[in-house]
Amino acid sequence: MERTLAIIKPDGVARALIGEIIGRLEREGINILALRMIWMTEDQARGFYKVHAGKPFYESVTRFMSSGPCVVMVLEGKRVINAYRKLMGATDYREAAKGTIRHDYATDIEKNVVHGSDSPESAAFEISYFFNELEIFKR
Ligand code: TYD
Ligand code: MG
Repeated sequence: MERTLAIIKPDGVARALIGEIIGRLEREGINILALRMIWMTEDQARGFYKVHAGKPFYESVTRFMSSGPCVVMVLEGKRVINAYRKLMGATDYREAAKGTIRHDYATDIEKNVVHGSDSPESAAFEISYFFNELEIFKR
């Protein structure tokens, strides 16, 4: 079993897509081990996306991520990092496969509704950024 960090971004929350996105996870058999609603400060968003510091989109995406509430979740499943990335679709919604969350709902390369960790190392960093072990359900 593997864990990953998922976020429903401010655009997804504002557009009332929380239920739709969580429904897709549940129908896929992915387990939710922790879930919370947060509103990041710009500094917190900068820390979360520090791997992208210096890239042309860094300032804009960290402003966007701190523009409203997000839902953060720890997901668990077999190869869930890739399984959930597949459900999300490509970063650029114009390249996302049909039926993926980003294909169906993203409106912009930045406002792309969801986040998912991209490796075991980033999952460990991102999960610990928002949750301590006591907050993560043990089945
Ligand atoms: P990245 O980690 O490359 O994408 P993903 O979310 O699929 O792992 O980038 C992080 C976020 O930064 C991405 O979800 C949206 C934003 N972004 C842009 O606004 N423009 C870009 O050109 C890229 C690559 C990302
Ligand atoms: Mg990424």
